[in-house]
Amino acid sequence: MPDALRSARAAALAAALAGAAAAQDPARDPGLGEATFLSSCAGCHGETADGTGPMTEILTVPVPDLTRLAARNGGVFPWLRVVHVIDGTTGLRAHGGPMPVFGALFEGDAAVADAPDGTPVIASRRILAVADWLASIQAAD
Ligand code: HEC
Repeated sequence: MPDALRSARAAALAAALAGAAAAQDPARDPGLGEATFLSSCAGCHGETADGTGPMTEILTVPVPDLTRLAARNGGVFPWLRVVHVIDGTTGLRAHGGPMPVFGALFEGDAAVADAPDGTPVIASRRILAVADWLASIQAAD
């Protein structure tokens, strides 16, 4: 095979592999994020994450509107804080609230995803996917 053809093939293969890796990054799966949200979170936070799930009728504390996390944080989605809140095992969340600790429930499903500052974060694949899905549905203001 001529060298030029060989290097063209190598480049095409490298590009295909890079694309496959990005497409298959299990922690960055918006479909999984939405499905997890609907099954585990929507009862309280509402199907559109606006804080109006059916459980709000029996809860004694307000359930936050999760489409406004960025708006409430100066326009920046607090991705890492959201991962910690959902995981609940980092101790960052105050004790006693009704929001369940999902880290233990989703245990054994670990994946790594880069936080916005590039820090690799290891958490449940579903928690990372939910955080990414929430980031994608933030209200504009
Ligand atoms: C039993 C009801 C309930 C369920 C189920 C629930 N939450 Fe919550 N969540 C709450 C309540 C109440 C709060 C506010 C008080 C607190 O933090 O405990 C809250 C707070 C949060 C916050 C912090 C919001 C802020 O303004 O800082 C995030 C993020 C969040 N929930 C995401 C989720 C996700 C994602 C799921 C599903 C994996 C989920 N919640 C499931 C009730 C719930």
